[in-house]
Amino acid sequence: MTNPLRIGLFGTGRIGQVHAANAASLPGTTLRWICDPALDRGRETAERYGCPGVTGSPEELLAAGDLDAVVVASPTPTHVGLIEACIDRGLPVLCEKPIHLDIRRVDALREKARAASTPIAIGFNRRFDPSIADLHRTVREGGVGRLEQLTIVSRDPEPPGAAYLAASGGIFRDMTIHDLDVARFFIPEIVEVTARAEQSFSPEVAAANDYDTATVVLRGAGGEIVTIVNSRHCSYGYDQRLEAFGDAGAARVENLLPLTTRRFGADAAEGTTAPYYSSFVDRYAEAYRAELREFAEGVRSGTVRNPGFEDGRAALVLADAAQESAESGVAVAVDPSGLAGGEGREGLSASAGRGAAAGPAS
Ligand SMILES: NC(=O)c1ccc[n+]([C@@H]2O[C@H](COP(=O)([O-])OP(=O)(O)OC[C@H]3O[C@@H](n4cnc5c(N)ncnc54)[C@H](O)[C@@H]3O)[C@@H](O)[C@H]2O)c1
Repeated sequence: MTNPLRIGLFGTGRIGQVHAANAASLPGTTLRWICDPALDRGRETAERYGCPGVTGSPEELLAAGDLDAVVVASPTPTHVGLIEACIDRGLPVLCEKPIHLDIRRVDALREKARAASTPIAIGFNRRFDPSIADLHRTVREGGVGRLEQLTIVSRDPEPPGAAYLAASGGIFRDMTIHDLDVARFFIPEIVEVTARAEQSFSPEVAAANDYDTATVVLRGAGGEIVTIVNSRHCSYGYDQRLEAFGDAGAARVENLLPLTTRRFGADAAEGTTAPYYSSFVDRYAEAYRAELREFAEGVRSGTVRNPGFEDGRAALVLADAAQESAESGVAVAVDPSGLAGGEGREGLSASAGRGAAAGPAS
């Protein structure tokens, strides 16, 4: 058996804990270094997962000679600098979304990222969720016929805190960006974005000059329509559903239950005994594992198939367009040639014989 891939991890906060646990437990990886300026948290995490190297200095981790790949789970403003440092040192990197909140900072790194000799993967974990991956396979194999509509429901249990909101970049760049990537997973060529958004229920979100409720409609180059429904709150937990509809049928991913026990009684015909998951950490636990496993296998084989830098950029371009549309009230055209392809896993290409894009842009 080959030696496990030695991973260096930046950041041990919410998502860093997920990556630390996975890097330490997957058979193909080992957690070799941790860097977090919050040294106590870094040390605690290192101890928990038996990681031998811990530092508060990004430079020290980057200079360590005993690393095969890096996972970036530090705050968004650090991503561009750390990706660039990994390119310079020839270190494969899996970086959390978004690459940056400002598309100009992403574009400033674009050429260097394209020319990089080592892989850059972006943490769009939902592509690795077993059910979403299965839906994608089903659609690709013609299971719903010609794909006409994709409907994505994505609601958080409750809004994040004020400090997070202030730095988040807004609902589209922070939250919808995952759904925009899922949309591109199925339909890589998006030509138009329309968004409606409201300050519907949360004074904290409104104080951050952000929206708590949003619907985004995307038009694909083949006339497909994607509808994304977002809310920053949901009384029954983390609501994550997806439906693909085509001319020969439909296929759906429903919410997962931690337990599948169902109780039958006078007051419950088919009541479950457990609520839905309440966080991304639990709902997408298997997706995060599969994401890191695929990255590690890709680094070994020389072909990383995770979503890449171009996919990270494309999702941000769409998020910016959604923000613009929500503010202006009009549809925003996007150039699909700047979005299609990318080095990530392939999306579904338009089926042969599909008609031209339907309807004029409004
Ligand atoms: N893919 C997903 O589902 C998902 C989920 C949550 C967060 N994220 C993304 O992950 C990133 C981190 O989010 P979070 O919620 O875990 O944040 P967090 O605030 O919980 O944790 C960030 C950690 O990084 C540390 N840190 C700060 N500067 C650092 C540096 N230069 N080097 C190393 N560590 C540093 C902080 O001390 C903190 O411990 C964000 O970009 C966020 O958008 C992705």
